[in-house]
Amino acid sequence: MHAVIMNETGGPEVLQYGEIATPEPGQGEVRIRVAYAGVNPADWKNRQGMLAAFRPYVFPYVLGFDAAGVVDALGEGVTAFAVGDRVLTPTNHGQGAHGSYAEQVVAAVDRVAPMPDGLGFAEAAALPVAALTAWQALQHNGGVRRGQRVLVHGGSGGLGGFAVQFARAAGAEVAATCSTANVAYLRGLGVERVVDYVAEDVTAAVKEWAPEGLDLLVNTAGASSLAHGLDLVRGGGTFVSIPTLVDDGDIPAEMAAAAERGVERVYSMMTDVDCAPALGAIAAMVASGEVLLPEIRVLDLRDAAAAHEAIQTGHTRGKIVLKVADL
Ligand SMILES: NC(=O)c1ccc[n+]([C@@H]2O[C@H](COP(=O)([O-])OP(=O)(O)OC[C@H]3O[C@@H](n4cnc5c(N)ncnc54)[C@H](OP(=O)(O)O)[C@@H]3O)[C@@H](O)[C@H]2O)c1
Repeated sequence: MHAVIMNETGGPEVLQYGEIATPEPGQGEVRIRVAYAGVNPADWKNRQGMLAAFRPYVFPYVLGFDAAGVVDALGEGVTAFAVGDRVLTPTNHGQGAHGSYAEQVVAAVDRVAPMPDGLGFAEAAALPVAALTAWQALQHNGGVRRGQRVLVHGGSGGLGGFAVQFARAAGAEVAATCSTANVAYLRGLGVERVVDYVAEDVTAAVKEWAPEGLDLLVNTAGASSLAHGLDLVRGGGTFVSIPTLVDDGDIPAEMAAAAERGVERVYSMMTDVDCAPALGAIAAMVASGEVLLPEIRVLDLRDAAAAHEAIQTGHTRGKIVLKVADL
């Protein structure tokens, strides 16, 4: 099969379009013919070699967590899916399998959700890691509830666009930060108070919007961009940070400071808990229009290096996906 292959870690130039053996699905796995592969910031960090602490790199190596496509082979014991089913998945790349920047990818069935009617492949490929991470941050770790005042710091990226939507869908009042160019975009996603972090003093703006303090703060944009985040959260509230691998601050010190103020402090990684059911529920919310999709930019799989240059800026609006095949 064709794929974007790495033979070493490094800059975008290590991403080479070529051929590699087609993977076979093992027990409890399906193989998927990929229509679109989603791009996440984790991909460029992975390309640079930053995930070495989690598992060794075995070359040739194929990047990419997110895929949407059609099941084309079933591993032993798989009954939940049939060949031809349209599916989306964060794959098993995080567990060491080849990733989704390829014509075919395998994934364990507990990480695969059926695509609802009305959802296209490009849209589906934009969901898995970003939407699941946002869902777990808000629902599992943030305990978002109706009527709460919620701030999403970094609302205009892949994760942030879903986080503001899930907070709204839960009935919360939502504020979010972004740069000037993304203010109208976030208003379009229904954010009530958009704080332009370039033109406004974020602390003053949030304190005016939530004078009693935030019930829930979700930081997607790294620790250094929100040095005084804890000051914005009320006692008894919750402050969730999404670990970035590159800008996470002094986590033990942050936990201790939060405990002193009676704020629940959580670092929310994407986990496998309820992966397929949650992804299915999210896909249904998107297909029904309850959750608006973040803006999606489509590039060809052969342009993966350009996609990495864009995502690596840290200022992507919405999501980038790679078109692999017309299915
Ligand atoms: N640990 C995990 O399980 C996990 C899972 C998913 C993601 N993540 C991490 O979470 C982070 C966000 O992911 P993503 O997919 O949303 O990234 P993304 O699509 O690249 O979006 C990043 C967003 O951050 C915003 N931003 C940058 N500087 C900012 C600042 N000073 N204040 C407010 N917003 C700012 C940008 O908005 P502007 O352009 O408007 O500045 C951009 O929209 C990444 O570091 C990613 O690696 C971790």
